[in-house]
Amino acid sequence: MREKLRLGVNIDHVATIRNARGGEHPDPIRAARMAAEAGADGITAHLREDRRHISDDDISRLSEQIRLPLNLEMAATEEMLAIALRHRPHAACIVPEKREELTTEGGLDAHGGENHLRRYVDELVQAGIRVSLFIDADPRQLQAARRLGAPVVELHTGRYAEADGASREAELLRLQEGAAVAEALGLECHAGHGLSYDNVGPVAAIPTVVELNIGHFLVGEAIFGGLDSSIKRMRALMDKARAEATGSRSA
Ligand code: PXP
Repeated sequence: MREKLRLGVNIDHVATIRNARGGEHPDPIRAARMAAEAGADGITAHLREDRRHISDDDISRLSEQIRLPLNLEMAATEEMLAIALRHRPHAACIVPEKREELTTEGGLDAHGGENHLRRYVDELVQAGIRVSLFIDADPRQLQAARRLGAPVVELHTGRYAEADGASREAELLRLQEGAAVAEALGLECHAGHGLSYDNVGPVAAIPTVVELNIGHFLVGEAIFGGLDSSIKRMRALMDKARAEATGSRSA
């Protein structure tokens, strides 16, 4: 499986800034439109239980107004399942969610939570939604994703992004091995969390990873240079790393 590396732009933190004042500005749907023009391949948004950033109305407007595939990040709850089935996004990424965490701090426990997750994966798949599970690059979690029938996994890159030196190398190796296990199991492999200009290259170079989902860094950089520029630069870094890794300029 060797495909073009897609960039999914996560617009959650445009909504975070909007919500700081409770008004309508800046509008994440405008950010999604700009992302499309800048070369994003998809839009990702996480509707959290506490609605701290993306709102229900944002999901409605993204579904109606944005042509790019929407990847809805959601916890495995009845409420989120109903919302996903109502809007039928292109993809749904099931993530673990704790109210008190600052962000999604670790991967979903697909292995330990298999019984709970089964119905959510089944219903989403039956609705024609491409389901991914946001998991750590751990063979047990990957095997559980396979047993659950999720066609896609997204490897959590948070620990890699936070590590440095030898431990970063070890985390990178874990991601590379996880991507190889995913391919052997027939799972499409995505990756994301904490990626930036400085650390995206080695992850983009993993040839079987077909999509990166990136948000916080892009929105943060947009403050200094604009969203268009941050997305284009990220896209260029991803493409360069992939082309160097595969020895092809057209990757
Ligand atoms: N992928 C998933 C499943 C996530 O939950 C997040 C964070 O919402 C991201 C990617 C993007 O992470 P970041 O905002 O750190 O780029």
